[in-house]
Amino acid sequence: MKPTLRLKLVVSSLTVIVITGSIATLIGFHLIEKGIVREAQSKVTLDLNSARLIYNQRRDNIVNAMTYTAMRKFGIIQALKNGNRKILLESIYSACEEGGMDIMAITDKEGRVVIRAHNPGAFGDSQAHDEFVKRAIVDKKSVAGTEIVSREELLKESEVLADRIRITLVPTPRGKNYYERENTSGMMLKAAVPLFDDTGELIGVLYGGVLLNNNYEIVDKIKDIVYENVKYKGKDVGTATIFQDGFRISTNVTLRNGKRAIGTIVSKEVYERVVEQGKAWTDRAFVVNDWYLTAYSPIKNIKDEVIGILYVGMLESKYNDMKRDSLWMFFGAIITGIILSLAVSYMLAYLIVRPIQQLEHGVEALAKGNFDFDINVRSHDEIGSLEESFNKVRRELKQTYNKLQGKIEAADEDLKKAYKELREKQELLVQKERLASMGQLSAGVAHEINNPIGTIILYSHTLRKEFPEGDHRREDLEMIVSEAMRCKDIVRDLLNFARQSRVTKEPTDLKKLIKEVFSIIKPEAEVKNIKMDAQFDESVPTVMIDRIQISQVLVNIMKNSIDAISGEGEIKVNITLNKSGEDVEIKVSDNGCGIKHENLSKLFTPFFTTKDMGKGTGLGLAIAYGVIKMHSGNISVESEPGKGTIFTISFPVNKVENDSDISINGLYNTSKT
Ligand SMILES: Nc1ncnc2c1ncn2[C@@H]1O[C@H](COP(=O)(O)OP(=O)(O)OP(=O)(O)O)[C@@H](O)[C@H]1O
Ligand SMILES: [Mg+2]
Repeated sequence: MKPTLRLKLVVSSLTVIVITGSIATLIGFHLIEKGIVREAQSKVTLDLNSARLIYNQRRDNIVNAMTYTAMRKFGIIQALKNGNRKILLESIYSACEEGGMDIMAITDKEGRVVIRAHNPGAFGDSQAHDEFVKRAIVDKKSVAGTEIVSREELLKESEVLADRIRITLVPTPRGKNYYERENTSGMMLKAAVPLFDDTGELIGVLYGGVLLNNNYEIVDKIKDIVYENVKYKGKDVGTATIFQDGFRISTNVTLRNGKRAIGTIVSKEVYERVVEQGKAWTDRAFVVNDWYLTAYSPIKNIKDEVIGILYVGMLESKYNDMKRDSLWMFFGAIITGIILSLAVSYMLAYLIVRPIQQLEHGVEALAKGNFDFDINVRSHDEIGSLEESFNKVRRELKQTYNKLQGKIEAADEDLKKAYKELREKQELLVQKERLASMGQLSAGVAHEINNPIGTIILYSHTLRKEFPEGDHRREDLEMIVSEAMRCKDIVRDLLNFARQSRVTKEPTDLKKLIKEVFSIIKPEAEVKNIKMDAQFDESVPTVMIDRIQISQVLVNIMKNSIDAISGEGEIKVNITLNKSGEDVEIKVSDNGCGIKHENLSKLFTPFFTTKDMGKGTGLGLAIAYGVIKMHSGNISVESEPGKGTIFTISFPVNKVENDSDISINGLYNTSKT
């Protein structure tokens, strides 16, 4: 199939659309992928910072609560000085409860424990080895941070608390390996505040802390504040965890059974990066039983050693779904765009191609010669002006064509006229030629025969008288005389025929001429009892003709009519002037035997006769034809066998021909004999 212009236009614009669409799709996919994931990842990093703030805030709360206790409960200083343990116990117990703390104790300035809030019976032991107590004594400043606390130490503070650190480790598929199955220490947010007397001398240390194991206060606060407890498909979108070393001691990541995933172990890679190398980790990670976008950062003790991890994570499926929805929306927009563009390009192609098709039809119509195909100009653009130009060209072509057509017709007419004239002239020439040769021959023969015939007649006539009436020799001689007379007539006809090639015109009254003709043939007509009648149109003027020749013509025609009529008959002559008044027309009609159809074309040929030997020579009509033609006229015949014949001759009224005096090769001279 031949690709149409419309198809080409649609395919080319479609190609552009598809290429652009594909590039846009690729870029769009890339941007969505990158944008959403990067956005989510950076949000997680920010969330980790927020979590860190919340974590540090809790630490600062502890310091503040303890500083406040040391200052407000001024009795503590006094009681410490006095060794009043009862007051001390009351003070720190209530402070411990108010501050939501797990342990609180007071030491003397050497670090020996004076009183413990939850275990007042255990005192006198030294906490000088404790990093916090030590720094408070040495630096005489408050100190706070996270620390790993052994079970033994915790047992001193509270038995209940010592039990809370127990966590069963749960191995995970890509988790770090632990040899022990249960932990034997806890992680604690801890602070120590130095106590001074009114002289400003250090008299002891107040220390306390919050055990993080199985304590969900911080992680839930992070979830509350940072993620506002938002759920996606029944799951928390955001989760937070505190790891001691590499296992979860406080978390809101849940197991399939809905319980908190306490004791589950972090992956090896994260452990290596965060715990061993002390760096942060941000990436997607499979946490317990789902993919999360995660951020981990190390938790360090006051000696700057990594002892745990703070983690936040966001459910990745939410972002995956968002990404998928965005991709679909984007894809949908692109497909809609492609369909719309396709429709628009199809419409455009239609608008462009339709006028071109019209032009094509127009050109085809012109090629077939239809100059009336007008194109409807619809637009004012380049195609519109092309259509206007086409219409202009078409109009001009039509005009030119019509002009040419007129000229061709006129030329055709001229050509026909010229051809007709040529034919006539040629006929005339042929006739003249024929007449000339015939005339020459006839004149020659006549000249040679006329005198011997005269002699024959003369001597036969004389000799005849020598024999008596009734002598058969006398009869024979009479026969010789009559036949010789007939020869003389033939010779006369031949001379007439020869002579008619010369025309001498003179003004002639046709009425008179007809009368003369009638008087010549009257004797013959009367013998056969034939009526003769002539009718004249009074408008027929005097004509310029060779009177003798035209009367000869009429005599010949009428003699034929007399010969054609057997029994009673009538010869009518009718003379009229034609409409233009230029030609005169003479009709001679009879009611004789008529002429056979096949003979009509031969009538004017010299020596054509149907008459018996000795009765006709066949020169009568040949002479008539020659004479009429020499008068620039016409002779025609209509006949119906058994009914009659009409001869019509016509010739110009006043036309005086230059060639009226025509002499052909001495014909005239020889014809004088
Ligand atoms: N009016 C007529 N009716 C019937 N036949 C005619 C008539 N006029 C002419 N013919 C026919 O045309 C022939 C030719 O005529 P044309 O006058 O030339 O010669 P012709 O009469 O035979 O002899 P010629 O006139 O020399 O004595 C005639 O022989 C005749 O057959
Ligand atoms: Mg005749």
